[in-house]
Amino acid sequence: MDKILDPSARALLFTEARTANLFLDKPVEPKLLQEAYDLMKWGPTSMNSCPVRIVFLTTDAAKERLKPALFDGNIARVKSAPVVAVIGHDLEFFEHLPILFPHAPENKKIFENNEYATQANAFRNASLQGAYFIMAARAVGLDCGPMSGFDNGAVDKEFFGGTHIKSNFLCSLGYADESQNFPRGPRFEYNEICQVL
Ligand SMILES: Cc1cc2nc3c(=O)[nH]c(=O)nc-3n(C[C@H](O)[C@H](O)[C@H](O)COP(=O)(O)O)c2cc1C
Repeated sequence: MDKILDPSARALLFTEARTANLFLDKPVEPKLLQEAYDLMKWGPTSMNSCPVRIVFLTTDAAKERLKPALFDGNIARVKSAPVVAVIGHDLEFFEHLPILFPHAPENKKIFENNEYATQANAFRNASLQGAYFIMAARAVGLDCGPMSGFDNGAVDKEFFGGTHIKSNFLCSLGYADESQNFPRGPRFEYNEICQVL
């Protein structure tokens, strides 16, 4: 098997993929959420720590709970999305290291009583996993609308109370109404921002 993606797969994941603004009135089959998760979970994290935690909001009632935390510009976006994923990270991820990283279970100690290392590892790796999730959702045919315009503290209180989980970003999911997408912004060219030493 050739270990490269053909141009149509690259287009689906990258070159033609757009951030969704508003969505068509078309439901997302629940099994697609698991299909996307079952792809993204294989993306790499430090010490295989897998700190991401996800809550999928799939009903109007669940999305209503998010509304008070949203910046105004994101209210319509959330309302029109069939599913909104709350992407967070577990600050006690290290409790699972003996299982997830069995060849060095003692690494758990690196994080015990080390708030800086714990916070940095959880945020870095769950952000990576959130990005893998966007690509995985695209791979199963969904459009994504990531959002950071909301009050993280309010979301943590509403959805993660009594846990060590903190929210990072939201990701609306569904089938984009492409007529409502913003114009595509440019990207830096390779020579503008990359160095080869
Ligand atoms: C982490 C993250 C947070 C974002 N937050 C918001 C947001 O709060 N509101 C919004 O309208 N767009 C938000 N966006 C969308 C970006 O503006 C959009 O992905 C970017 O302009 C690229 O668009 P394109 O994929 O269509 O080229 C966010 C994107 C990311 C990845």
